[in-house]
Amino acid sequence: MQTSYLTTSSSNKHKTFDKEDWSSAYCNVEKELNNAELNLSKGSIPKDLSGTFYRNGPGRLERGGRWVHHPFDGDGMIAAFKFRNGNVSLTNRFVRTKEWEEEEKAQKFLYRGVFGTQKEGGVLANALDVRLKNIANTHVVKLGKELLALWEASSPYAINPVTLETIGISNLKGVLKKNEAFSAHPHFDPGHHEEPRMVTFGVTTGPKSTIRLMEFSTEGKKAGSLLSDRKDSFNGFAFLHDFAITPNWAIFLQNALSFNPLPFLLGQKGAAQCLASQKDGASKFLLIPRDSGKFAGESPKTVEAPKGFVFHHLNAWEEKENINIDSIYYDDFPSIGPDDDFREIDFDLLPEGILKRCQINPNKNKFIATTLSNQCCEFAMVNPLLEGKKARFCWMATAEKKEGNGPLQAIKKLDLFNNEEIIWSGAPRGFIGEPIFIPLNSSKDSEDQGWVIVLVWNSIRSGTDLVILNAKDLSEQAILEVPISIPHGLHGSWVEE
Ligand SMILES: [Fe+2]
Repeated sequence: MQTSYLTTSSSNKHKTFDKEDWSSAYCNVEKELNNAELNLSKGSIPKDLSGTFYRNGPGRLERGGRWVHHPFDGDGMIAAFKFRNGNVSLTNRFVRTKEWEEEEKAQKFLYRGVFGTQKEGGVLANALDVRLKNIANTHVVKLGKELLALWEASSPYAINPVTLETIGISNLKGVLKKNEAFSAHPHFDPGHHEEPRMVTFGVTTGPKSTIRLMEFSTEGKKAGSLLSDRKDSFNGFAFLHDFAITPNWAIFLQNALSFNPLPFLLGQKGAAQCLASQKDGASKFLLIPRDSGKFAGESPKTVEAPKGFVFHHLNAWEEKENINIDSIYYDDFPSIGPDDDFREIDFDLLPEGILKRCQINPNKNKFIATTLSNQCCEFAMVNPLLEGKKARFCWMATAEKKEGNGPLQAIKKLDLFNNEEIIWSGAPRGFIGEPIFIPLNSSKDSEDQGWVIVLVWNSIRSGTDLVILNAKDLSEQAILEVPISIPHGLHGSWVEE
């Protein structure tokens, strides 16, 4: 374990964190900057890091003295950390969604949020208002010449990758219908079928759900063009946040959830608060053959899945007739009830995320599940050059304590072959976001050679730090003070120069 730069002499050694420190990160982003310098407080920035770390997340959590009900309802704010020649600079912008512009003018919430934020005026004012506010806050990726700010229930916003100015809602060269759902979790095939691709999906749901699986070119003149497109329907309601790819398959986990829209229609709850676990319901893996793979055109397969709820997958790969998929499982769907304050949540009452592996045999409708790590985790990734293949190492955000739920405070490098782990921790005063692994070398033999970058909420100075670790041993390479305070966020990506 590395000693944290956020350990202070006054730290209570028996506590992994103070809730006030954790919740102090929930603030509005007050400034938009252009190429601002970061103050280097430790180490040096590696000269071989050349590219941009883009990161999305809620940046506006309060308007006119009223708070969002859930941070996931906060408007998307994109930060771009540009690395070149051992220097780094920050540009940040809110995504100018139509709704953000209107609410900026009015200085109050005019729209309901999916996670329970209500307009002023009580239940009556909210009843029957079923408009979805596309807050573009979940992920940011580069496709072709544009960045896409993603929010899974609607279409992406196109963003200028240099200035971060909002270009507008994109239909991706005519691929998407107006406001068509487009996942916030694209996956990047590093070249299993010669050219690299972005594989992604959109889901329309109801008593029957339809998954639209799309593959886009990511290189050369065709970058951004649609390469393949298929639609498959399945019985039952499907809440699909993420998926995984192998060279031949797209793998989805259909959680055993039900959706009762009535409290949403009546103005009592947000749409996502109307999801509930089906206690005796069965989860299912939905396996869709990729059009680029050897089962192209064949029908999808459905296989039983373990009980539990999954937001995110780590990776998947094929081995003989089996498909292996590593995912983070919760005992139940974690939600914040209409009367709860998200800044006051009791972590001990929430289920923890456990990394498990499922070996699926699609021909025998069987799976074997094993636990890879019992420590509460989220935001896990392998070397992106091994996405869809068997990888040895992964990096993830974890709670500080070894059992039970807790805020994300540490980064773990896990050796999936022998279970050895290395941990860097920001506890007790630091709280981390999604760690991004950046490979230094394009050779698969140096799988863990590179850097891990992460934003850390530094509660000692109520500000955000950018931390760069050596990916191999998680030693601290550099710590920089970010000139704006950024709330706990969602996903990001690295774009090589
Ligand atoms: Fe996600």
